[in-house]
Amino acid sequence: MTNVVVIGSQWGDEGKGKIVDWLSERADIVVRFQGGHNAGHTLVIDGTSYKLSLLPSGVVRPGKMAVIGNGVVVDPHALIAEIDKLEKQGVKISPENLRIADNATLILSLHRELDGIREDAASNSNSGVKIGTTRRGIGPAYEDKVGRRAIRVMDLADLDTLPGKVERLLTHHNALRRGLGESEITHDAIMQELTSVADRVLPFRETIWLMLDKERRRGARILFEGAQGSLLDIDHGTYPFVTSSNTVAGQAAAGSGMGPGSLGYILGITKAYTTRVGEGPFPTELNDEIGQFLGEKGHEFGTVTGRKRRCGWFDAALVRQSVATNGITGIALTKLDVLDGLDELKICVGYTLDGKEIDHLPASQGQQARVEPVYITLEGWKESTVGARSWADLPAQAIKYVRQVEELIGAPVALLSTSPERDDTILVTDPFED
Ligand code: GDP
Ligand code: IMO
Ligand code: MG
Repeated sequence: MTNVVVIGSQWGDEGKGKIVDWLSERADIVVRFQGGHNAGHTLVIDGTSYKLSLLPSGVVRPGKMAVIGNGVVVDPHALIAEIDKLEKQGVKISPENLRIADNATLILSLHRELDGIREDAASNSNSGVKIGTTRRGIGPAYEDKVGRRAIRVMDLADLDTLPGKVERLLTHHNALRRGLGESEITHDAIMQELTSVADRVLPFRETIWLMLDKERRRGARILFEGAQGSLLDIDHGTYPFVTSSNTVAGQAAAGSGMGPGSLGYILGITKAYTTRVGEGPFPTELNDEIGQFLGEKGHEFGTVTGRKRRCGWFDAALVRQSVATNGITGIALTKLDVLDGLDELKICVGYTLDGKEIDHLPASQGQQARVEPVYITLEGWKESTVGARSWADLPAQAIKYVRQVEELIGAPVALLSTSPERDDTILVTDPFED
């Protein structure tokens, strides 16, 4: 018996929400450890769809504890809105089933605004790089955290020291805003924003590292839910076209306060092809009818921003990198059904760079833009795999494709997903028992 860390092995939207929901039946606690409401995790249970951004996907299961760890950036307005939205869908959320780390950083409206100002400025001029962020204030909030001027959850309960903290935050932000030609923000406005949300947020506050330590000792099963994907990691991703947190499995420890020795099985959620939202390099991108086919069949539109996701062939070189940087034990291969009906399938096994063969994506932005994929080609299958619940239901060519993926990335398939529905999932190895 072990704990399980779920992370995305590509550029996000691999189907983490569905797999976390499926696995959470076997878990006691589900913990988010990085990112914020830039995530969009979709669960489909008996035809009803739930879209979660900040709340861990375990909240929809009665009797499970959901935790937002210290590594998450928490927008209190988004938190309240998501709780209210889920309650309308019949999911009751209270301190009985949700706890938030008292040392988690808050995203304020000034962060959201700054995110948008920067993206607009980069779109309208050659200064700055347009990232295509979700405009949720994620980057600016993490900057303040690392800059040691962030307001954290527990600060909402300490009205004596809060004004001094707001003062420090505004000294920085107003200088920045003056430089950008924006109006300054008043101390009163931020104090009012914070006091207006305090009563809704504070009941959930908890010393999470202590709670997880007690739970671990009593033998609770803990499931960690990553957001984004390894190629969006601030260190290991396609910088600067990345998010502002570490998304790799090691962050599950730092972002929750549980030691890395207790993490257990690392499950890399891996889409059977590749997608990306926002700007940045994408060697196997398909700007043709096959790319369009994948986008339409896979419903590749962002859960958070509604943007069209870019689509392309499976890139085994990238996932091989993720297997290494996360220490992936096994993968959950998702959306295999989207490939049904294609005559042939390509898999990228490496690249050429300026005429030379290389087996991994280089770190440099310029080189990443210049690599050309090297493909192998496999025969497709005509039969439908939608809703398959056992290997016996899969066509021989689909099994061949899965085996080829395993071999190229150097990790086994533990779970296989064949539709958005919770139970259309094939279990090969139970990550909690491995
Ligand atoms: P996440 O961000 O990793 O949780 O992924 P998203 O929820 O943003 O995007 C994955 C989308 O694919 C969602 O709409 C899921 O309902 C859907 N999905 C998940 N697994 C499968 C699958 O095996 N087949 C199909 N067709 N759709 C899936
Ligand atoms: P889930 O958890 C896909 C992308 C954005 C942008 C970059 C930086 O659903 O897989 P940010 O707002 O984080 O500063 O944006 O990261 N991005 C995601 N792409 N899935 C996500 O989350 C993402 N979260 C952020 O599109 O390119
Ligand atoms: Mg998503």
